[in-house]
Amino acid sequence: MTDITMDRAHRPDALARARQNLLGQPIPRIEGPAKVTGTATYAYEGAPDGIAYAVIVGAPIGSGRVTAIDTATAEALPGVIAVIHDDPRIVTGGSNSQAQAHSDTDTIFHYGQPVAIVVAEDQAVARDAAKRVVVHAEPGADRFDAGAQPVQRDHGIGFLPAIDIGDLDAALERAEVTLDRHYTTPVHFPAALEPHASTVRWDDGKLTVRTSNQVIGSASATIATALGIDKGDVRVLAPFVGGGFGGKTGVGPEVILAAIAAERIGRPVKVALPRAQTAYLVHHRSATTQRVRIGADRDGRITAFAHEGVAAQNDDASFLEPIPFGSLPLYAGENRRFRTDLVRVDLPATGAVRAPGEAIGSFAVECAMDELAVQLGLDPIALRRINEPRVDPVNGKPFSTRRLVDCYDEGARRFGWDARQKRREGNWLIGHGMAAALRGNFTVKAEARVRLDTDGRAIVECDMTDIGTGTYTILAQTAGEMLGLPIDRVEVRIGDSDLPASAGSGGSFGAGSACSATVLACEDIITELARRMNAAPEDLVLQDGCVTAGGRSVALADLIRGESIVATGKTGPGAETKRTSQASHGAHFVEVAVHAVTGEVRVRRMLGVFDIGRVLNAKTAASQLIGGMIWGLSYALGEAAEVDTRNGHFVNPDFGEYHVAVHADVPPIEVHFIEEIDDHANPVGAKGVGELGISGAGAAVANAIHDATGVRVRDFPVTLDKLL
Ligand code: MOS
Repeated sequence: MTDITMDRAHRPDALARARQNLLGQPIPRIEGPAKVTGTATYAYEGAPDGIAYAVIVGAPIGSGRVTAIDTATAEALPGVIAVIHDDPRIVTGGSNSQAQAHSDTDTIFHYGQPVAIVVAEDQAVARDAAKRVVVHAEPGADRFDAGAQPVQRDHGIGFLPAIDIGDLDAALERAEVTLDRHYTTPVHFPAALEPHASTVRWDDGKLTVRTSNQVIGSASATIATALGIDKGDVRVLAPFVGGGFGGKTGVGPEVILAAIAAERIGRPVKVALPRAQTAYLVHHRSATTQRVRIGADRDGRITAFAHEGVAAQNDDASFLEPIPFGSLPLYAGENRRFRTDLVRVDLPATGAVRAPGEAIGSFAVECAMDELAVQLGLDPIALRRINEPRVDPVNGKPFSTRRLVDCYDEGARRFGWDARQKRREGNWLIGHGMAAALRGNFTVKAEARVRLDTDGRAIVECDMTDIGTGTYTILAQTAGEMLGLPIDRVEVRIGDSDLPASAGSGGSFGAGSACSATVLACEDIITELARRMNAAPEDLVLQDGCVTAGGRSVALADLIRGESIVATGKTGPGAETKRTSQASHGAHFVEVAVHAVTGEVRVRRMLGVFDIGRVLNAKTAASQLIGGMIWGLSYALGEAAEVDTRNGHFVNPDFGEYHVAVHADVPPIEVHFIEEIDDHANPVGAKGVGELGISGAGAAVANAIHDATGVRVRDFPVTLDKLL
């Protein structure tokens, strides 16, 4: 086994020479049949011998102290095994990302915070008993209303520092045209279809957790810390995940509580969060208030650009929605200011949800650009074209690849932008809008082990997850491409913390990082194959299970000769990551119809063109982008969690009242790619896809609504009451 340097920034020659014509192809998901036939087992499925069912009891108020917990009625129910509330590890203080133990077990940090766990012989009994646990609590001082809290500028949390370049105030003063607008966005839930669920068991002090999680490596570390055991004693399995959307980047308290219960009763335990409980035990996206200021010449050249906002967090967590993240490199302008200020609240933790920063930051900035275009009498694409920077306007770095203008052009052509007509059809007002999409690109540490077996098949192993994104398929395509194997001769094993540590699914970095590690492992295997062929690696042609060099062709299986070849590839951020500015880009185009009498909005069509570097699988990449565009539609028109500021609970923690787009809301959606392999991004040349589609999509919908109605709504979602 060979480790390859982490600093590989350029496309390996072997990938450039590959002939299998597999990578990039729109191959259907290889695990699809298992999913649709029900043989893919999710975290809550299967019942190990002796399984018990658990339900979490939450704090009945949002701030204060638990004074007593009365368990007698619950314990008396037939089938109840235990009601546990005396373990200090139960109080995880906050939710998802921050499963940390508190020594103070009485304090209530937020509504619904776990205070007890009920374990029973079946789920119905556990649920019934949980309702009969009486939690006595004494309210304390509270900060449920984010809007009433003092704004902290020097808070020291979050990963995005404040940025101030040039002299913004002077430039705004001097500018011929200025714009100053405020925008607001509400609390968003990640809203994965599969709620958080875990099945846990202890065997001789070792814990096995089958769970639904995006990032297995950090999950096992978090679980070990929360339980006070060694990371090596935790095995995390997540072979199938029914959506994450950021909400499964951390570990939910349900894992910790199930582990405590399983230890106490000496049996395996499983727990699934009821939908309403996901609102409290999974992090959410903070509501935001944002201000965008732009100064420009009369011809549209931007000289001053500021995007500032305020987001909320509780006392336990250190994440802060990076509101202007996507705006940093988007448009030119010598004088720039970006910052996110903080308000502290007594609510569940806020965390990474569906393109943290970009999704809601782009609402403000892309609507502001639309407003500026109207003010200047310019086409919104023309305004953006004038302000396309040549280097990153924050740090002066060259872009690795940036095809944003091509996305505008290709999108405008395909959508028929120039021929668009604002019009009325009966009672429907028809309008069109566009917006730019930008999402920062990251490559993170990732390992993959590839084994070329004696039967000429390849096995790819790492602890990646597939959260519905296509990870299984693109890893198989990558190895198949490199080793010249058809896809049915590549097996992919992921979702197990015993496998080499990979990137996990988050931040849109999973595919590029994990496939790069796979490329590097395969490159090592090719070197070994070349040695066995007595040829130079660059003279090897691998195709359809055969190796050819110097006129000699050998079946891979024959070349292995009873001795399989194993290699581990490693990648991570390298010199090119520092030297260049990296992002994925795109352009959204939307047509809406708004009912002139009722204000009802119907999105009629959406079209996006995207620059994502190498397309690893045209089908799964397009599916992710379509999903992101649907999110955009969804939070532009419906999604909003309402906080009851009297007691810190969410008024609508369910799909009945928290409105995500349903099929009937979703129009035909077209996705196209401008493919340019990004050799600076990572060895496989792919940039992030998962969170790009949502970035800008909501703004494009809002801009189309303005075009149709003349009403500019700056407070998401755009519900009909705001249009009348
Ligand atoms: Mo993403 S919100 O980092 O899963």
